[in-house]
Order: sequence, then structure tokens, then C-alpha cells
Amino acid sequence: MIICHKREELRQVVDGLRLKNQSIGFVPTMGALHDGHLSLIRKGLEENSRMVVSIFVNPTQFDNSSDLEKYPRTIESDLELLHTLSEELIVYAPSAEDIYGDTVSSEHFDFNGLEDQMEGQFRKGHFDGVGTVVKRLFEIVRPDTAYFGKKDFQQLRIIQELIKTHQLAVEVKGVDIFRDQDGLALSSRNERLSRVEREAAPFIYKTLKAAKMRFGTESANKVTKWVEKQFAQHDVLELEYFTIADEASLQTVQRKSKTKSYRAFIAVFAGDVRLIDNIALN
Ligand code: PAJ
Repeated sequence: MIICHKREELRQVVDGLRLKNQSIGFVPTMGALHDGHLSLIRKGLEENSRMVVSIFVNPTQFDNSSDLEKYPRTIESDLELLHTLSEELIVYAPSAEDIYGDTVSSEHFDFNGLEDQMEGQFRKGHFDGVGTVVKRLFEIVRPDTAYFGKKDFQQLRIIQELIKTHQLAVEVKGVDIFRDQDGLALSSRNERLSRVEREAAPFIYKTLKAAKMRFGTESANKVTKWVEKQFAQHDVLELEYFTIADEASLQTVQRKSKTKSYRAFIAVFAGDVRLIDNIALN
């Protein structure tokens, strides 16, 4: 396994592979790796000659400093996990300076309204931070293909938009949500759940599945009211938002159309831990 901390080191490695006509896949992460991240890397290993994985807790995408401080940093165990996956991996674990230079700040992006929905409403500036770091990482790594999880579906759509508007030569692939056996979507935040919260958390996916069933015959509005009621009655979990949106525009659906694909999106608090999930509806 090759580990690079500086962009020049990484560029040298990648340029060498390019000269040998090797295809390069890329999975950007913030570390605290789990099976969800590994499912992206595994897919990339199947489809590319070599895979680059970045580990960087990006300060500009956190809307509050305590969330940034609390974010787990587990580089040693992350590297061990990656070792067990493949010795062929190339890891890029930069400092903030390597990415941002002296000024750690984000660019402002227009993602055609995608950034104003859901997470954008509750996490101010979040997608400017994501757009800034992913664009820089793409410029440094210059991958053929980059893999993003559908767990963060809005992020995936925003990266697709970033590539389109900036005409970046990267193909983006979305990877299905990796879940625990009880249905909870894997997330590094799950580690912070108390036992009671962890036992309650599968209710999120259970409710999403029930919402999907209802959406077959009921209006989006009716399904939304039903979900809100389920959480209003719940002792441990607090609903932040539930919305049924068009997968392309991410706008909340008013009237169902047979030609469009819809997805239900949810954000829930378990204590101070914020969990997100989503499900395809058709
Ligand atoms: P992070 O939260 O570390 O996630 C890295 C990638 O793993 C993202 O594409 C995310 O959607 C995916 N992922 C996380 N949990 C998953 C799960 N249970 N199933 C499938 N995929 C999952 O997302 C980020 O980092 C950052 O915003 C980043 C893109 C690295 C920019 O800083």
C-alpha cells in the first residue's frame, strides 16, 4: 500500500500509473472507515487498475465547530483496515495546508438549486465546503472514475452537477447504501449512539420502507404526515425532516408523475447524534 501525505507525492504516483495506461478509481472519505466506505472501495477495485482513497476531515463542510471537533479521527485503524482490503491501494491523507494552503475557506457554488434543498437548509454552507474539497481532490488525483455513496444522495447529485458545470473529466458512480443487519445505514456517527439510541435507530429504515409501501397508493403529502406522526409518538428519535423529492431536481414532489423517479429523504436526531437516510420509491 502506498501512503502519500503531500499532493506532489500523490501526483508522482498517479502520473507513473497513467504512463502505464492504468485506469484510476477514487473514493474520497473523511476517515473513520466502516463497511459502507469499504463497499465503495471494493466496487472501485473491481472496475479499475488502481484505486486512490483519500482520508481528510474537511473543515469547510462543517457548519458548527463542535461537530468538527467531535468528528472521529482514527487514521491508524483506517490504514489497518485498508491494508486488509488490498495492498494495491493508494492512500492520500493530506493536511489542511496541503489542500487549502494558508486560507481554509470555501468557494461559493451554484448547483442549480440542488444545494437549497434538505441538508442545504439545515447545514448552512455545507455543500460549498463539499464542492470546494471534492473539486480540489479531483484536480489533485485526476481519477477516471469516482465513487460516492447513495447514503448521501444529495451530495452525489451535487457532485454530478459540479462535474457538469465545471466540465471535469471524471465519471461519477453512485453506490447503494450499506446497512447493518437490522437496517441501520452504516455511518461513523453510529459509534456515538448510546445503547438505547442504537436499539431505537433501525426504526428509521423501517419507517422509510413503510413509507415506500404507502407511496404506492397515497399522495406524498399524506405519506409525509404519516411519517411525522410516527416520529411524534417516538420516545428516543426526533424527526428533523422527512421529504419525498424528485431524484433529479431534489424538489419536494407536489403531484406524482409516472415519468419521474422519487426518493424519500429523512434526518433524525438520536440525542445529539444526527442520522440521515433515504430510500428509492420507484
Ligand atoms: P464520508 O462521510 O467519510 O463518506 C465517504 C463516502 O462514503 C461518501 O460517498 C458516502 O456517501 C459514503 N458512505 C458513507 N456511509 C455509507 C453507507 N452506509 N453506504 C454507502 N456509502 C456510504 O461524504 C464524505 O465523507 C465527505 O463529504 C467527502 C465526500 C469525503 C468530502 O469531504
